[in-house]
Amino acid sequence: MHLSDSVTLDPQSGMCQIEGMNYPIVGFGTYPLTDEVCTRSVREALNTGYRIIDTATRYRNFEAIAKALKGIDRQSVYLISKVWPDMLQPLDVLSDLEETLKRLQIDYLDAYLVHWPNSQVPIEKTLRAMEELRQAKKIHHIGLSNVSVNHLKKALEVGVPITWVQVEMHPFFCDFELLKFCREKSIALQAWSPLGRGVICDDGLLLKIGKKYDKTPAQIALRWIIQHLCMPLPSSKNKEHIHENREITSFALSIEEMQEIDQRAKIGKRKRLVKEKAGFTDEFDFSYEECWNDS
Ligand SMILES: NC(=O)c1ccc[n+]([C@@H]2O[C@H](COP(=O)([O-])OP(=O)(O)OC[C@H]3O[C@@H](n4cnc5c(N)ncnc54)[C@H](OP(=O)(O)O)[C@@H]3O)[C@@H](O)[C@H]2O)c1
Repeated sequence: MHLSDSVTLDPQSGMCQIEGMNYPIVGFGTYPLTDEVCTRSVREALNTGYRIIDTATRYRNFEAIAKALKGIDRQSVYLISKVWPDMLQPLDVLSDLEETLKRLQIDYLDAYLVHWPNSQVPIEKTLRAMEELRQAKKIHHIGLSNVSVNHLKKALEVGVPITWVQVEMHPFFCDFELLKFCREKSIALQAWSPLGRGVICDDGLLLKIGKKYDKTPAQIALRWIIQHLCMPLPSSKNKEHIHENREITSFALSIEEMQEIDQRAKIGKRKRLVKEKAGFTDEFDFSYEECWNDS
């Protein structure tokens, strides 16, 4: 399925195409992995075939990832990083990216995302700085993380191409309004905490569906995400889990099973993008007027 000019996702094969390059849809999340555990886990993921790696300045693991990437063809890996909300002024964005590239020992990032909106920094300023980096080929794609439909609507008005949105998505929570809006606007969605930090693993519904396909709740959750044409970014330091999380293409959930999980996700509560984060107060982060400061 063609999501945008840049991104195509195929749940059947479990592959996606980004700018003509093929990668497994399931990416690898690196929070909260640091130091040797991170290097070992990313190496294991790369050996298992993962080729999309998600990190962020905040995770403090660039050096550990750089070690794991040694000997891997740079072009075969799609690297995502995120800039923290206190670094969204244009000069700060440029310096964050320079530092990111230096520490990861690479000369471009595949995707650079705003980690959290900052209500005090107009999104236009940040996006223009990112676009400058894109034009200079230091980053290939721009994205936003932890946004609502209103954040995204306002950001799109700037006219800078936004390829990705990275938000919380798992069987206990999904922002379906955002998912629909992203589809309409040809923006691809990455799912963070796709296993709800492991909480979904004891869920009765996922256990029941898993029994039918001989799959674990984690595999059912990841399959549900890719059938929604989203890219899950599970994290693990456990070799068996790292392997298990990629084995989700030998079966498909029925429409009824998808709907059952949807119902659960619809009534769930998000963990982030809530009060007290990045200068937001309660509900205002969802209102169009106030989600970003204009001046
Ligand atoms: N943009 C954002 O603001 C944001 C926020 C949060 C996360 N993220 C990204 O999303 C990635 C994933 O999110 P997350 O780490 O919060 O949560 P997650 O991937 O939903 O869950 C990770 C937890 O699940 C366990 N796990 C992994 N595979 C499993 C399996 N097959 N069976 C049972 N348990 C399993 C892991 O334990 P083991 O290590 O023991 O396997 C770990 O405790 C992060 O690493 C990060 O890259 C982004």
